[in-house]
Amino acid sequence: MWNPSRGVSIRHTSGAILCAMVCGGLAIVGARGGTEQAAGAVSLLTVNAAAPGAAISATLFGIFFEDINFAADGGIYAEKIKNRSFEFPDALMGWRRAVAVESNGAFTVRTDAPPSPQNPHYLRITSKAGTFGVSNDGFRGIGVSKGQKFRFSVLARVPPGQRAGGGKLLVEFENNRGEPRGGIVLEGFTTQWARYTGTLEAAADDIRSHLRLLLPAAGSIDVDMVSLFPEDTWKGRENGLRRDLTQLLSDLKPGFIRFPGGCIVEGRFLDGRYQWKTTIGAPADRKLIVNRWNDEFPHRAAPDYYQTFGLGFFEYFQLAEDVGAEPLPILNCGMACQFNSNELVPLAQIDPYVQDALDLIEFANGPVTSAWGKKRADMGHPAPFNLKFVGVGNEQWGPQYIERYELFAKVLKQKHPEIRLISSVGPSAAGKEFDYLWGRLRELKADLVDEHYYMPPNWFLSNTNRYDNYPRTGPKVFAGEYAAHAPTIPARGQRPSTLATALAEAAFMTGLERNADVVELSSYAPLFAHVDAWQWTPNLIWFDNMKSYGTTSYYVQKLFGGNRGTHVLPVNKPEEGLFVSASLDDKAGEVIVKLVNPGAAARNVRVDFTGKRASGAGKAFVLTGSPDAENSLASPTTIAPAEEALTLAAGSSAVERTLAAHSLTVLRVPVR
Ligand code: AHR
Repeated sequence: MWNPSRGVSIRHTSGAILCAMVCGGLAIVGARGGTEQAAGAVSLLTVNAAAPGAAISATLFGIFFEDINFAADGGIYAEKIKNRSFEFPDALMGWRRAVAVESNGAFTVRTDAPPSPQNPHYLRITSKAGTFGVSNDGFRGIGVSKGQKFRFSVLARVPPGQRAGGGKLLVEFENNRGEPRGGIVLEGFTTQWARYTGTLEAAADDIRSHLRLLLPAAGSIDVDMVSLFPEDTWKGRENGLRRDLTQLLSDLKPGFIRFPGGCIVEGRFLDGRYQWKTTIGAPADRKLIVNRWNDEFPHRAAPDYYQTFGLGFFEYFQLAEDVGAEPLPILNCGMACQFNSNELVPLAQIDPYVQDALDLIEFANGPVTSAWGKKRADMGHPAPFNLKFVGVGNEQWGPQYIERYELFAKVLKQKHPEIRLISSVGPSAAGKEFDYLWGRLRELKADLVDEHYYMPPNWFLSNTNRYDNYPRTGPKVFAGEYAAHAPTIPARGQRPSTLATALAEAAFMTGLERNADVVELSSYAPLFAHVDAWQWTPNLIWFDNMKSYGTTSYYVQKLFGGNRGTHVLPVNKPEEGLFVSASLDDKAGEVIVKLVNPGAAARNVRVDFTGKRASGAGKAFVLTGSPDAENSLASPTTIAPAEEALTLAAGSSAVERTLAAHSLTVLRVPVR
C-alpha cells in the first residue's frame, strides 16, 4: 500500500517518455508513451484465428471491493442513516437536536434493556412540552429526489413505567433550514420493543437532506436501528444496495468480486480485523467496528467512518451471484496490517482463524443441514453460493506470512481440495520480499499469488511484457490490486484518472490477456469513492449522494470485461508504442482484437485474419479523446466508448483502420 504518512513511496513521473528513434525508423517515440508512425506507414498485424492458444479464464477481469472512501456504509450499501443504532463510540455522532424545534426536551443514549444485546445502545427522546426531537445528518447528507419513496423502519418502545399507546412519532425529511420535506406519522407504541415501518416520499430534490424524528407532544420514546432505504434498491431488496452503483458493477461483466478488501481485512490491530461471522444474520445484531480508513490518512480524516456490516458476507455473496461473478473472499491470516502494528497471532493460537476459513466454506457451500449452511439458508439462500476461492491474508509479507499460510494450506487443502487458495507477495511489484515470497510459494505449490502494483503510468507502459517470461507452470497470478498513479494535482489533492492513465492500464492489460495461461485473475483498485468522503485516489467509480460515474479507467475495464475471449490467439509483435492482444470467442464465433495507441499521433493498422476467414459485419468499440480528459459527476461520459460498425477491407479477410491518437480500440470480427 502506498501511504504518504508511512514514507513508503512509489515513483511518480510526468507521463512522458523520452523521444528516441527506434530501429528501422518506422516509429518515433513520442510523449505519453507513444511512438509516432512514419508518414504513410501501416502497421501490419496478423491474427491466426485457427490457432487458439491458452484458455482465458472467465475470471481474468474482475472487481476489487473494499470499504474505503465510503464504499460500503455511505456508498453502495443504501442505508441513509448514519449511526443508526447509536453504537459509534461517540454514541450521538450523526445525531443532533432537530433544527425546527426549541430546546424543550432532551435526548440521551441508554443501555438498559436494549433490543439487541450485541448492540446495547439506544436513544431516549423526551419532550417536556411541545414538539421535540432529533435529526440525522446521513452520510454527508441524505440524497433525495422529489417523489422518491423510502422505506423507514425503527425499533421503538414507550419507556417502561410510562403510559403505553398514547405517543406519536413524526418522521420527516428536513432541509437545511429545518423545513419539513415529506414525512409520516407512526403510532401505537407499547412498552415492548417492536419494529415500526412506513413509506416516506420526498417532497423536493435535496442532496443534503436530513431525517428527523419528532415527538409532537410531551412524552418519551426509545428508538434503535433507525433505518431509511430507498425503495428502489438493486433488485428491490430491503437491506439493499444502491441501484446505480450496483448497475455500474454489473455492466463491467466482472469475472469475480474480491471482498472485503484490502487492508480492511487485516485491521491495524488484530481486534480490528474483519471477522466475517460478525457480519451475517439480522442486520440489527451485527457488531459494528471502526473502519481502519477512519483516520489512516490525517489529511483525509473521516472520524465518522465505521463499519456497520449491513453489507456483510451474505450480501457480498449475493452481489457476486447477482452480477454473475465468482465470490472471492479474503480472510485474515492471523496478521494485522504490517504497515501499522504488525501484530501477529502466535502460531500455536491460529486454529480459530483457520476454523473461520473452514466455517466460511461451509457457510457458502455447505448443505442446509450443516451448522453454517443452515445460517445461509435462514438468511434466504438455501442453494450454495458455489465458492471456489479463498484468500489467505491480504498484503502480507515475510517468513511470518509463509508460516501462517502453511498452517492454513495444510488444513484447507486436506479438507477442501476443491477450494483454490490465494496467497500474498506483499505490497510491491518487485524486490527482495517479492522474490522471497514467490520463491517460497512456488516451493509450497501455492495455487494463486496476489500481486499488487500502484505505479506511475510509464511503469504500466513499460511492463506490458511483465508476464511474458513468468514460468508457465506453478502458481497462477492474481493481479489483485493495480492502478496507474499519475502525480497528485495539488489544487485537488487527488491523483487524476485521465484518458492517458487509463490507456496505460489498457496497454498493460493486453499483456495480462496475452499471458492468460499465467494470469488468471486481475482487478483494478480501489473501486468506489464518495466525492465528499474519500481517502484514496484514483478510484474506479465516484459518487455523491445521488449520482455516480465511471472514470476513464472504468471504461477500460468495461471494454476488457465485456470483450473477453475464450482463448488467446497468436498475433505478431507490433511496432513500438502500439499494444495488442487477440483472442477467440469460441461461443460467439468472433475474433477480438484489442489495440492500444497511447501516443499523440494516429496510426494506420491492417489486421489480417488468417486460418479462418473473417466474414460479415463486425463491430469496433473506440475509447478516445484528449489525454488529459477526465469524467466527472457533471460530465460522466466525456470519455466513454463509442460503437462503430466494422467492414472488411475489400475482397479480403482483413480490417484496415486508423487508430486515433490516445485510443483503445476493440475489434470484434466474426470468423468462419
Ligand atoms: O486499495 C487500497 C489499499 O491498497 C488496500 O487496502 C491495500 O491492500 C493496498 O495497500
